[in-house]
Parts: sequence; structure tokens; C-alpha cells
Amino acid sequence: LSVGALTSNYYAATCPLTEFIVRNTVNQALRSDSTLAGGLLRLHFHDCFVQGCDGSVLIDSTKDNTAEKDSPANLSLRGYEVIDQAKQMLENQCPGVCYDSRGSMKRGCDLCLLLLLLLFVSAGAHTLGAARCASFKKRLSNFDPNNDVDPTLDSNYARMLSRSCTAGDDTQVGFDFTRTRFDVNYFYALQGRMGLLTSDQTLYTNPQTQFIVNGYAMNQASFFSDFQQAMIKMGALDVKEGNQGEIRMNCRQVN
Ligand code: HEM
Repeated sequence: LSVGALTSNYYAATCPLTEFIVRNTVNQALRSDSTLAGGLLRLHFHDCFVQGCDGSVLIDSTKDNTAEKDSPANLSLRGYEVIDQAKQMLENQCPGVCYDSRGSMKRGCDLCLLLLLLLFVSAGAHTLGAARCASFKKRLSNFDPNNDVDPTLDSNYARMLSRSCTAGDDTQVGFDFTRTRFDVNYFYALQGRMGLLTSDQTLYTNPQTQFIVNGYAMNQASFFSDFQQAMIKMGALDVKEGNQGEIRMNCRQVN
């Protein structure tokens, strides 16, 4: 794999077990909580869309600076501890390698970013994961002056959601019925007017994108391959190279 400045096996010479360690850490974490696949995927997405994929979403707030992770849009991100664990294992295996490797390499790629990229292998977009009722409850009552419930929502599904959400705003509902499986059930849900967020259902109600939903629902292989390409591109957004930025010793703090 090689995209722009990024290559896989970047640490082949300086820390050959890097990718193995990261993959293992992720697999172990997923074995104890398979919903983390969704959490990690979203973490990567949110990182990449603020000034590129630089792992900045991992940084903790300090008393002088409120970090990205503490902004309202990022409060429900999760999976940080998996990255901490992988980084810890790497530091044990190859102490300081992410510090001193840069000089000897033609192009730099932040280790924390590499971690996020690899974490990605085990994940997929809204086919994985869940949303809290707080994110979609507006669709379930007092929707607009003419409709109590969002009319693009299947009425049985809307009733089921309302029942689930009586437990409170933090109740989680999967985007599809297989929230920990990367599959095309998400697209079937959209076809059945069971898209959880307005932004999900819009993919189907909008005539310009409906054919994409139908295409993926019919052809899982094409979804998998397009998703793979999209994620590779997303992961390469504005990656810092050479002397830009810094390689963090601790993913949660600037050096
Ligand atoms: C129009 C674009 C998008 C919107 C409006 C959107 C919105 C949301 C919202 C509101 C949630 C639920 C948050 C909560 O209630 O706590 C969510 C969850 C999630 N999003 Fe997106 N999203 C978008 C695109 C993406 C993309 C491009 C990806 C990945 C490449 C992604 C991956 C995820 C995942 C995996 C979850 C579940 C996280 C978990 O289970 O912890 N989303 N998204």
C-alpha cells in the first residue's frame, strides 16, 4: 500500500513488528468489545476532517487549551484507550523509535497517525456502530408543523425507536441490525426507510444518490472495494511530511 507520502511497513527497518503489534492490540480489544470497531472508525474520520489526519484528536485538554476531543461534536468519540495500549506496546518494543526515525527517512509520517490508519482496517462507516437518541430524537416527535414524526421514517421503526429512547438520551441504537458487522445491511435499512439519522436516510431519499444505495445493497463486493479506496484517500488527507509538525512521544500530549 502506498498513497502519496504514506507507505505501509514504514517502520520495516526501525521497528519491524509495528503493524503486527497494532493489529494484535486492535484484535484483542475487539474481542472484548466488538462495538469498538465503530468507535475507532469514527475517531479516524473526525481526526481527518480537522486539518487533516494528524492524530490531533488524541491530544488531551490542558488548563490553557481546550482540545479537539472536548469540543461538542467529539464528546461521544471513543476508543482512545486502544490507541494508548498500542502505543505503549510499541514503546516497550522499540523505545523512542517514533522520535528518532524521522531523520533517516525520506518522508515523515506520525506514528500516532499510522496507528489510526491501521486501526481502520478492522472497521467500516455507518454499517458499524450506533447513535445516541440525542442525535436523532428530533425525528420522533414535534418534527415539523405538519408532521409529528419525520415522514421519511418507516412508522413501525419510528415507534420502536421511541420505545427505546424512553430510556434516555444516551441510549444507543445501531445504524443497522448488525452494528458490529461490516456488511450491506445499512443499505437495506435505508431502502426500508430505516435510516437512523436524517443524513443517513437522505442518501436514499435524494434521487441523486439513491442509485448508489441500491447499487451497494445489490453488490457487497463493490461497496467493500469502494470503501477501501475512500478510506485510503481519507487517511491521506493533509498528512504532515518531513519536518512539518512533530512526532509525539505520547499521543495525548504535544512534546
Ligand atoms: C455526513 C456525514 C456524517 C454525519 C452527519 C455523521 C454523523 C454521525 C452521528 C450523529 C453519529 C452518532 C453520534 C452519537 O450519537 O454519539 C455518528 C456515528 C458514527 N459515525 Fe458518522 N457521520 C458522518 C460520516 C461518517 C463517516 C464518513 C464515517 C467513517 C468513515 C463515520 C463513522 C461513524 C461511526 C463508525 C459511528 C458510530 C460510532 C460508535 O459506535 O461509537 N461517519 N455519525
